[in-house]
Amino acid sequence: MRIDILSVVPELLDGPFNHSIIKRAAQKGIAEIHVHNIRDYSTDKHHRCDDYAFSGSAGMVMTIQPIEAAIEALKKERNYDAIIYTSPDGEMFNQPMANQLSQLNNIIILCGHYKGVDQRVRDHFITREISIGDYVLTGGELAAAVIADSIIRLIPGAISDETSALSDSFQDNLLSAPVYTRPADYKGWKVPDILLSGNERAIEEWKLEQALERTRRLRPDLLGE
Ligand code: ADE
Repeated sequence: MRIDILSVVPELLDGPFNHSIIKRAAQKGIAEIHVHNIRDYSTDKHHRCDDYAFSGSAGMVMTIQPIEAAIEALKKERNYDAIIYTSPDGEMFNQPMANQLSQLNNIIILCGHYKGVDQRVRDHFITREISIGDYVLTGGELAAAVIADSIIRLIPGAISDETSALSDSFQDNLLSAPVYTRPADYKGWKVPDILLSGNERAIEEWKLEQALERTRRLRPDLLGE
């Protein structure tokens, strides 16, 4: 899979993609992430990518020209299955969307900034608008990093234990059961006996009960309650 991210602050994405799973996935050839600076495509002599809003509202708006140039340059090289715009007024991101996006070959993520992007970019280029939550970030870069991370870890081979992506919270609309590691007794705080019993069936039942209890308590909406 290939993800191209368009940003006016590409430096913000240096950290998330140069470590851990994402970096390993890139090294294994499973997923490639390319971050592009939208300013490089601006024909303005100062490489400006924003301008005043016609409506007179406060705040700057991202202009069409450099975004169109960046998207067209990428589209010349390959076909894209989705062109996503990160924005607080997009569809709320969730695990089913991550699963769906992880099946695609090539996607572009345009990171919103300032007061947003000229509506004509949304009308003519964007195929999907995604929000990562009901709050406003300074820019869409962190949202793009969240989306890319959650997609890439689902690609077979991206994480060493493939089954662990399947047992994630939300994969079956349940939060995960609690997990423990050694020591079995830390200053009197003990791991539940059942986990030390070696009885796999009983352990699976315990995990399901715990997951249901946690979900009922913390996220009853996931159970339709
Ligand atoms: N840009 C600013 N806030 C955002 C959010 N909540 N989700 C996605 N992109 C954003």
